[in-house]
Amino acid sequence: MAMNYSDKVMEHFTNPQNVGEIENASGCGTVGNAVCGDIMRVYLDIDENNVIRDAKFKTFGCGAAIATSSMATVLVKGKTVQEALEVTNKAVMEALDGLPPVKVHCSLLAEEAIHAALWDYAEKNGIVIEGLEKPVSDISEHDHGHGDEDDE
Ligand code: FES
Repeated sequence: MAMNYSDKVMEHFTNPQNVGEIENASGCGTVGNAVCGDIMRVYLDIDENNVIRDAKFKTFGCGAAIATSSMATVLVKGKTVQEALEVTNKAVMEALDGLPPVKVHCSLLAEEAIHAALWDYAEKNGIVIEGLEKPVSDISEHDHGHGDEDDE
């Protein structure tokens, strides 16, 4: 059965923006949804003024997961880390002109991937980003030049 995707979703699925990785990223976060098994990893390059210079992603998941990660990275670029918290799953969905109800969780995964990357950035720099919580779906292994064990 075909899903009713908006043109924007199809555009970001067939031609996703910001696919790839950032070497020595300021923050990198990986999240997974245990039910569908989809995984998203987001890399952020953040400058000394806490502005997100670049964002890239790798997603192993459904078409909506790819479209939402693409849109989420587009939306956070150029924003401060604080402003990036406003890129919620709702904002991502709105920017994509909506998602079918069974695909709403894909946009949540995109929000969480951004949060996981911001969390990693905050941890690496010993700062607190007000309003940011570590996503429960965070499955980051912190294998990007950051050796702390975070057992929780
Ligand atoms: Fe789970 Fe899309 S079906 S992220």
